Amino acid sequence: MCGIIGYVGAKSANDILIAGLERLEYRGYDSAGIAVTHDNLISINKSEGRVHNLKTKKLDGTRGIGHTRWATHGSPSDRNAHPFTCNENKFVVVHNGIIENYLELRSGLIHAGISCTSDTDSEVIVHLISQAYNGNLKDAVCKVIKHLQGSYALCVMHKDTHELIGARNGSPLLIGLGNEENFLASDASAIIDHTKDVIYMNDFQVAEISKDYVKVFDFDGIEQQHEIKKIDWNLEQAQKGGYTHFMLKEIFEQPAVAQESLNVNFILAKDFSRIIIVACGTASYAGLVGKYVLEKVAKIPVVNEIASEFRYKECLISERDLVIAISQSGETADTLAAVRLAHQKGARTLGLINVVDSTIAREVDSVVYTRAGPEIGVASTKAFISQLITLYKLAFHFTDNEMNHSIVDKIAETLQLSDSIRKLAEQYYECQNFLYIGRNLSFPLALEGALKLKEISYIHAEAYPAGELKHGPIALVCTEMPTIAICPQDTVYEKTYSNIEEVKARKGRVITIATEGDERIKNVSNNVIYVPKVNNILYPFVIAVVLQLFAYHVADLRDCDVDKPRNLAKSVTVE
Ligand code: G6P
Repeated sequence: MCGIIGYVGAKSANDILIAGLERLEYRGYDSAGIAVTHDNLISINKSEGRVHNLKTKKLDGTRGIGHTRWATHGSPSDRNAHPFTCNENKFVVVHNGIIENYLELRSGLIHAGISCTSDTDSEVIVHLISQAYNGNLKDAVCKVIKHLQGSYALCVMHKDTHELIGARNGSPLLIGLGNEENFLASDASAIIDHTKDVIYMNDFQVAEISKDYVKVFDFDGIEQQHEIKKIDWNLEQAQKGGYTHFMLKEIFEQPAVAQESLNVNFILAKDFSRIIIVACGTASYAGLVGKYVLEKVAKIPVVNEIASEFRYKECLISERDLVIAISQSGETADTLAAVRLAHQKGARTLGLINVVDSTIAREVDSVVYTRAGPEIGVASTKAFISQLITLYKLAFHFTDNEMNHSIVDKIAETLQLSDSIRKLAEQYYECQNFLYIGRNLSFPLALEGALKLKEISYIHAEAYPAGELKHGPIALVCTEMPTIAICPQDTVYEKTYSNIEEVKARKGRVITIATEGDERIKNVSNNVIYVPKVNNILYPFVIAVVLQLFAYHVADLRDCDVDKPRNLAKSVTVE
């Protein structure tokens, strides 16, 4: 988490850094700061809160670094905001990641008479660089990073010199190549309006960039070859395009995304005994839908693992397993660690990844891009739909059948429900708790619906397999706790219907998501949202859209910051 950026060129660094940080805010927004050099002096503007707070001041200079923070060590506050400078104000550093041995490093500094002014793990880096400096900034950085344990992407600047130094181990960092200007950034969105030519840095690499050159080194300071890649998306895709929120725009992009994702193809033989899906958050719920579909359509046994759990338990996998990592960002630390563990155990890995050339995409044995385009809203929507399509395509790849493309129109049809879902949200947005239930393919959808609601509206929402209600959660049912019941006319319709009746019998209010034309469902529902009729296994696509819209409208009515919910970040690059 945290976003970092560096600029060196002939333009005002202030504006470029702030605009870049605004695009990186999805990585964290607890505090923001920039440092710019001018006349051999470093000026810093930083504060708790959002990047726009930096706009009240303008720093002169054409070389600088910036940071937007997701707090790990030390509360969100001015004093813990990056950049950090050393005691003589000669060096300045921004950091994304976690320095695990910072306490030990900090006590070494205290022994040397150097005190830190923040509670962060990051600040030690700048003091160590100041100590190690012997006339060459890159050499000082190479020396210091050998003592750092943990993960980091760094940008470092000296007040007098002409270059910026970047270093990467475990957190993403790329170099942007401009015309008489160059950039460092956590990801391409920060620099896309300046250049489309980038070098994705690998772990254990250090970059030295100036206005006129870019060099990449290993941690021993030996220069390395680098490959320049072209970013294949544009600025427009990373803007709101008339919508009030990115989330709403991204929900409405789903027919186009689905169409695009239907073009993915697999070249994969069925020569493994089972599939293990590793992922986090929304991607893990897509993986759960994938399990039902792969098992039903392709008859392949699938195990779902939350990546953060998988990596710390007994890992019983072998070379006969195919491990599928699903990730929008391709940077999630736990999913990446799960991939590395799978490799150690000899399993093959396949990545279903959205961000091209991201770390996981580069580390898996083979990658299939899910083609959702840039997703900016912290709550994942279109990336989820693209992950589902890709998983369905994988399942159909192992059969003689093709996936039905009519789903694109059905998603578009479902989007037309937005206004009526808003009216429904007006009735319910003040509730404090929600229960989501579903069976079979609708259960992972219940999980995803509850996640969407809680992350953007801060309403407590619990999801349960409808059949499990009677084993505990039914005790919660009362008039104050509405239930969202997912009950399309699929193979488990009657079973779910009975579960809804159980809720009704206990005076619970029920909003049911049902198939159009199902009049009977009204007998057990206070409100019904009708989705278009589709093939049994395709209901997740239309139901997901309803759940996203419901969460969106509820959060908007509660005046929540839909695109940047509190405490969250889109790309979780720490454990
Ligand atoms: C964060 C995001 C979620 C996302 C999850 C996994 O929690 O807020 O939207 O589903 O990370 O991210 P990934 O990039 O690996 O899909």
